[in-house]
Amino acid sequence: MRATSLKRSHSEVDVRGGGADDLDGLVALEQVVFAADAMTRRSLKRFLASQTADVLIAEFAGEIVGCAIVLSHPKTSLARLYSIAVLADYAGAGVGPVLLAAAEDAARARGRNEIRLEVHENNERAISCYRKSGYDEFGRLCGYYRDFGDALRFRKRLLGSDTRWQT
Ligand SMILES: CC(C)(COP(=O)(O)OP(=O)(O)OC[C@H]1O[C@@H](n2cnc3c(N)ncnc32)[C@H](O)[C@@H]1OP(=O)(O)O)[C@@H](O)C(=O)NCCC(=O)NCCS
Repeated sequence: MRATSLKRSHSEVDVRGGGADDLDGLVALEQVVFAADAMTRRSLKRFLASQTADVLIAEFAGEIVGCAIVLSHPKTSLARLYSIAVLADYAGAGVGPVLLAAAEDAARARGRNEIRLEVHENNERAISCYRKSGYDEFGRLCGYYRDFGDALRFRKRLLGSDTRWQT
C-alpha cells in the first residue's frame, strides 16, 4: 500500500521505539532518504544503544516507512530532534507529523519542556511539516550546512504555553 491510500488512513501507521534489530532497516531508510548525506551505520548503532536518545520508528504494513531520532541531553531541559525521515513513497501522507508527535511524547516522558530542531532554509516540505505541527521559528544559523545554506531553528513547548522558552 502506498501514499495515496496511506493518506486516507495514516492513523494505521504504528510508531514504536527502535532496537538493535532495526539497525539494517534504519541504514536502508537513511540511504534511500538522504543518499550521500545518510547517517553512518556506526552512528545509527550508537543512537540505538544510547541512554539519551529515543529512536522512533514508523511502520506501515510491516515496513519501516520513517524514523525520528530525539536527543535529550542530561544537563538541559531541552530535547533536540536530531533527525527525521520518511520514505518518499509516503511523503505528504502525514507520517512526519505522527513521528513528531511521538518524538514530543518521548521528550515529555524524559521531563523535557521544549524540543528544538534545525532545518535547511530550502527544505520546504520539512518546514511545512514543522509549522503545522506547532513549531515556531526562532533563529537562523548562517552557513550551517555543507552547501553553506542557512539553518532555520524551530522550537515547540512541551509542557503548556505558559512555560518560559529556554535560553
Ligand atoms: C520532512 C519529512 C519528514 C516530512 O514528512 P511527511 O510525512 O512528508 O510530512 P507531511 O505529510 O506533513 O508532508 C509535509 C509537506 O510536504 C508536502 N509534500 C509531500 N510530498 C511532496 C513532494 N513529493 N513534493 C513536494 N511537497 C511534498 C506535503 O504536501 C506537505 O505539505 P503541507 O504541509 O502543506 O500539506 C519528509 O518530507 C522527509 O523525510 N523529507 C526528507 C528528509 C528531510 O528533509 N528530513 C528533515 C531534515 S530537517
